[in-house]
Amino acid sequence: MATKPHPEVVADAAALAETAARRLIDRVTRGGSAAVCLTGGSSPQGLYRLLAQEPWRSKVPWDRVHWFMGDDRFVAETDPRSNMGAARGAFLDRVPVPRQNIHPIATDAADPDQAARFYEDDLRKFYGAERLNPARPLFDLVLMGLGSDGHTASLFPHSLSLEEQERWAVGVAKAGMEPFVPRVTLTFPALASTRELLFLVDGADKRAILGRVLAGEDLPAHRAYSNGELVWLIDRAASPEKTA
Ligand code: 6PG
Repeated sequence: MATKPHPEVVADAAALAETAARRLIDRVTRGGSAAVCLTGGSSPQGLYRLLAQEPWRSKVPWDRVHWFMGDDRFVAETDPRSNMGAARGAFLDRVPVPRQNIHPIATDAADPDQAARFYEDDLRKFYGAERLNPARPLFDLVLMGLGSDGHTASLFPHSLSLEEQERWAVGVAKAGMEPFVPRVTLTFPALASTRELLFLVDGADKRAILGRVLAGEDLPAHRAYSNGELVWLIDRAASPEKTA
C-alpha cells in the first residue's frame, strides 16, 4: 500500500545527516535484530560518517543490526564507484559490526543477473520466507537517494525493472546515468517492505527534479512506496519551496 510523501525540510546537509542519524538510531533500537538498507551516492555520506563517530556510534547496537545495500554498481568493492565500498570506508569498517551482519551484493558474480539471484537468496534467508508479507517488513529502514533524472536506487526512467512485481532484485545491464556501469538493484516491492523508507536529498542541484517528483510526475522516485512510513528528508537548498 502506498503512503503519501511526508517532506521534512532541514537547514543544510549537516542537519540532514544528524536528522537521518536520529531516525536510524530510533529504528534500530526498538528491540531484537534490525535491518537497514543503505544507498549509494553522495547524499548519505554525511550520515555514514556520523555513524562512525560519537555520540552516534555507541547508540547503535552493532551486533543486532544487519546492513544491506539497495543497489550497487557491478564493480569490485575496492573500486571507488562501489556503493558498499563507500559505506565500508565511511563507517562499516570503522565500527564493531560482526562480518556476517554486512550483506553486500556479490559484484564478483558472473554477471549482474546472477548477482541479483544471489542477493535474493541472501535476503530470503534473512527474511525466512519466500514471499514478502506487508505485515512483516523485510527492513526496518530503507535509505534512498534521488538522481537528477528522477531515478532512485538503480531504477532508471523507462526501464523494465520499474514494472517488476515478483523479483526482489534484478540486474541492470545499462545504467541511465553516470557511472555507466551495469548495476544490481532491489525492486520497488522489496524496497517497500520496510517500516520506513527515507529519502535523503540535499543541494540546490536537486531542487528542480525534487519539485517534479513531489508534484507527482511519473518518475521512478515518485513510484517508490513504502509499506510503512515514507519520509522525504530534504535540506533547504534542495527544497522546491523557497520559504521552507
Ligand atoms: C547509486 C545510487 C543512486 C543515488 C542517486 C543520488 O548507486 O547511484 O544508489 O540511486 O542515490 O543517484 O546520488 P547522489 O546522492 O550522489 O546525488
